[in-house]
Amino acid sequence: MLACAEGTPLPDGFLFGASTSAHQTEGGNTNSDWWQLEHRTGTPLAEPSGDAADSYHRWPVDMDLLAELGFTDYRFSIEWARIEPEPGRFSRAATDHYRRMVDGALERGLRPMVTLHHFTLPRWFAERGGWTAPDAVGLFARYAEAVEPVLREGVRHVCTINEPNLLATLTADAAPAPGLPLPDPELTATLIAAHRAATAAVKAAAPALRTGWSVANQVYQAVPGAEEVAAAYRRPREDVFLEAARADDWIGVQAYTRTRIGRHGPLPVPKGAELTLTGWEFYPAALGEAIRHTASVVGDVPVIVTENGIATHDDGRRVSYTRGALEELARALADGIDVRGYFHWSALDNYEWGSFRPTFGLIAVDPRTFLRAPKPSAHWLGRIARNRVLPL
Ligand code: BGC
Repeated sequence: MLACAEGTPLPDGFLFGASTSAHQTEGGNTNSDWWQLEHRTGTPLAEPSGDAADSYHRWPVDMDLLAELGFTDYRFSIEWARIEPEPGRFSRAATDHYRRMVDGALERGLRPMVTLHHFTLPRWFAERGGWTAPDAVGLFARYAEAVEPVLREGVRHVCTINEPNLLATLTADAAPAPGLPLPDPELTATLIAAHRAATAAVKAAAPALRTGWSVANQVYQAVPGAEEVAAAYRRPREDVFLEAARADDWIGVQAYTRTRIGRHGPLPVPKGAELTLTGWEFYPAALGEAIRHTASVVGDVPVIVTENGIATHDDGRRVSYTRGALEELARALADGIDVRGYFHWSALDNYEWGSFRPTFGLIAVDPRTFLRAPKPSAHWLGRIARNRVLPL
């Protein structure tokens, strides 16, 4: 990879887009376990997802904007709770809906990357123990098989499970949080088995699909003398999930910030550091470190950045953060690391698992009218996607 005066040209076929998830954008996901949690008496969540960004109906507008801005790829998830509202009962209408989304993306010149499971479960599945139920893996594989009409044509990349390492730490009462608790070993094993079973199911239906999963990378940094503590901390929280991807077609990197590890475990954010709306340290270099660590574990499995971004009201900081992250990506490419894509989180301001307050979007959404307004960062990043040259 040769850097030219204006920057680093993207390799041929490089995916450049933005990401969303169904529950965070669609609205009205009433049959999911998260909806139930949001409305339970005494819920720990600040507010419910409600209509979210109404993307269940407004996805054509979202895709129009992304394509007009210059993006060539769009990562979105399909909602198991809609596709299989009751055990073994598959909704033809929901399956058709997601098929229309795939077709709609292709018509606009956006290559769809489809996530099968992004944190939310059908209520019935959660009620019978969720991932801890003895037949959970088989049920997930059955769902993966049933979405064959969505994936069969025009989809190249499928992400089976979003952030299994975060999922393995979640109880029904806890919202996703940075600085991961310890994943449950049984849940870890179940999610790896579910990933493999879903991979086999979708490949049986459409062998050309490129399958993988996306791991939340916390960029564990050891302070001098704490290297072994950091490695032991990282292993069950990250490396086990990366090692499970060694036979996959790609591995998804999701990086936002870093976690410094001292002799006794995680350290607080350094004094005076700039914080984002999620309370995370503003640390664009996280992406480069996450890519390098991931590549060192997975060997020659290609890397795709499936999420990277920042929650802020100051869109100028979003541009600074993303520029820093893309510079890191350019350096990784220059060093010969096989990075095949970058998806910004998120396309839209959306429901951040308990609250609409942390705004990650390139595109603002008016909560009353649902009108979309691309921010300057959306135009800036879309230009990079269109020109296919990274700023370094
Ligand atoms: C998740 C997204 C989430 C984002 C920012 C990732 O953990 O996949 O759903 O909105 O980070 O918190």
